[in-house]
Amino acid sequence: MGIKTRKVVIIGAGHVGSHVASSLVMRNVADDIVFIDIDKKKAAAHALDIYDSVSSVEENISVRLGDYDDCKYADVVVISAGTQPVPGKKRLQMFDETIEILQDIVPKLKNSGFNGIVISISNPADIVGDYIRKRLDIPENHVFSTGTSLDTSRLKRILSEKTGYNRNSIQAYCMGEHGDSSMVPFSHVSFGGKSFDDMKKAFPDTFGKIDKEQIMAEVRQGGFEIVNGKSCTEFGIALATCSIVKAVLRDEKRIMPVSPLLKGQYGQTGVSAGVPCVIGKDGVEEIIEISLTQDEKELFNHSCDVIREYIAKADERE
Ligand code: 2OP
Repeated sequence: MGIKTRKVVIIGAGHVGSHVASSLVMRNVADDIVFIDIDKKKAAAHALDIYDSVSSVEENISVRLGDYDDCKYADVVVISAGTQPVPGKKRLQMFDETIEILQDIVPKLKNSGFNGIVISISNPADIVGDYIRKRLDIPENHVFSTGTSLDTSRLKRILSEKTGYNRNSIQAYCMGEHGDSSMVPFSHVSFGGKSFDDMKKAFPDTFGKIDKEQIMAEVRQGGFEIVNGKSCTEFGIALATCSIVKAVLRDEKRIMPVSPLLKGQYGQTGVSAGVPCVIGKDGVEEIIEISLTQDEKELFNHSCDVIREYIAKADERE
């Protein structure tokens, strides 16, 4: 029988994990959604709450509490375990606490017999994705983090607000670290195919006044603006993750910015950083190497250096 159930296990049923599950239900991306969390009571409650929501969609989706045995036949495992962001605290400062949590999770995932795709969200995202990849015996391109997918959502929101164009008509990526050193290759930002610089020349009174540095600063600030108001971010990242899970389960070959292991691309080796990738059933199936200007290369290389410093610290851990 060719009938297949799409199974997604979410490790970490906090603000982010629970919203990922809810997004998967609302967009009919998975058939069997399982939560794993050390706080079983809360995870079971989230599962039941989201399972109630299934009555209001067309599909019959299962949402439940499970354990690591469930990972064995999971197509995708989403890792959203970690601590909540704190106003004023950088993502890199969440490193120690998150690694401590992962030291419990990763061996259990490895021993479960899991052989699917891992999409990691926990911060600091690029370093955590790298940490997990190195400790699982599955192909390297099957483990990656959401990287700059959320920063890219923010970038499109900001560009849309400033120009008035629908964000779906804007082609733009945020690259590098999911964090304070992220960068935007403006030479590849376009509006219906017209480059940002050509738009600046064509519309000096509107586009001409948009400052690239200011946009990059606003993208970097975007998460903190939300964290300052409610001590977490959840909806934006949940839908970005849901889109990535969908691209895997439906083998969409969609190009999205995530953080895979770079092996020579962009002149970088042994570092995970946000770059546009083709996402399909085999995880990161291809890394798209866009040409960067000299200034953009410097910004990207600097961001990789920031990530590399923390990867070296993670390598020292068990
Ligand atoms: C975000 O950017 C805090 O990493 C989280 O929303």
